Amino acid sequence: MTRARNKSPRPKSLRVLVLMHPDFMPPDSAEGYSEKEINVWKTEYDVIHTLRGLGHEVKPLGVQYELKPIRDEVETWKPHVVFNLLEQFHGEPAYDQNVASYLELLRVPYTGCNPRGLMLARGKALSKKLLAFHRIPSPSFAVFPMGRKVKRPAKLGFPLIVKSASEDSSIGIAQASVVDSDEKLAERVAFIHERVGTDAMAEQFIEGREIYVGVLGNERLKVLPVWELQFGDMDETQNRIATAKVKHDVNYQEKLGIVHGPAKDLSPELKSRIQTLAKRICRTLELDGYARVDFRLSADGVPYFLEANPNPEIAKIEEFATAAKHDGIKYPELLQRILQLAIARAKAAGFSAEPVGEGDGEGGAEPEGEGDGTPRALPHARPNRRR
Ligand SMILES: Nc1ncnc2c1ncn2[C@@H]1O[C@H](COP(=O)(O)OP(=O)(O)O)[C@@H](O)[C@H]1O
Ligand SMILES: [Mg+2]
Repeated sequence: MTRARNKSPRPKSLRVLVLMHPDFMPPDSAEGYSEKEINVWKTEYDVIHTLRGLGHEVKPLGVQYELKPIRDEVETWKPHVVFNLLEQFHGEPAYDQNVASYLELLRVPYTGCNPRGLMLARGKALSKKLLAFHRIPSPSFAVFPMGRKVKRPAKLGFPLIVKSASEDSSIGIAQASVVDSDEKLAERVAFIHERVGTDAMAEQFIEGREIYVGVLGNERLKVLPVWELQFGDMDETQNRIATAKVKHDVNYQEKLGIVHGPAKDLSPELKSRIQTLAKRICRTLELDGYARVDFRLSADGVPYFLEANPNPEIAKIEEFATAAKHDGIKYPELLQRILQLAIARAKAAGFSAEPVGEGDGEGGAEPEGEGDGTPRALPHARPNRRR
């Protein structure tokens, strides 16, 4: 085979409007910034620079309190597609679905998940109820709404983990989240109500491995390799869970050797069972674009669904993109596929005249590349990333 035949053709140049939180608007170059500073805007930086590298015309737009700037850009600059990196509006994560709805009403193709999927995946309890209908294993749970007395259902035994019913990014999750008495349960629920400001849920605590599975696609879903967060030298007396500290404190990650990488020593049957589950979960929750499903794998080999993350963290060195790379999808190709999926969905809905291009983003070739398989050091993430 010749080199020329191997090279993928440069995609058609598109006008891409990239929506982001104004605080995460990246500079033109990362030179001279510390790792900690870069961490704040690395996702936006990676996306903008990679899309430009692909030959697209890219306009970053910071939005948070006003929809008008989006409408103005859509009407005047006429982007072919909007890359949606917004995870909140008015500081409220649950409004991510409203922004997607607005883009839908403007009839502009946008990347990532549709508003229905964002809504179904947002409430952890609602997701679990929908999945229970399909007999997808998930830890038993109870929700403790704000302002109500904590009464544990008799059938929900200890140990339990207490978390926010709607927040992301391990907000409110620490070692103290795992409780083994009614007294500790009440204390931790009060902590979630008061400090996180949301309803709380207590879930059966699953001792086991921490597994993430990326899924890419709208109708036809491409599932990425089964990925694992490894807790390194974490003290045996600690619960091996992805606390906020584990996810976001780079010094702690480095000190303990907390890394993510392909899940090792799983039988091919178990791997494919987990991957099939991840796809079924995305279908049930009506997720499209790109998503990551979080599981706990118990010692007896049951993958328990924890939560689904539509529009997960897409920075180059984070789990989703690294798993894609391990599967032979390099970062520029990944972002190009995400754009194509946006356009394909809009076309299917009848509001994009744009040619979708090669493989229309739906499936396409599934290269068998194995990557190097080396676990990566976890970069420190900021607290409001969907991880
Ligand atoms: N039922 C559970 N059993 C064991 N660990 C859990 C359970 N629920 C959550 N965790 C731990 O807490 C982390 C964060 O929980 P998750 O439900 O994924 O919320 P978030 O949206 O904050 O990521 C998980 O990655 C896992 O390590
Ligand atoms: Mg999670």
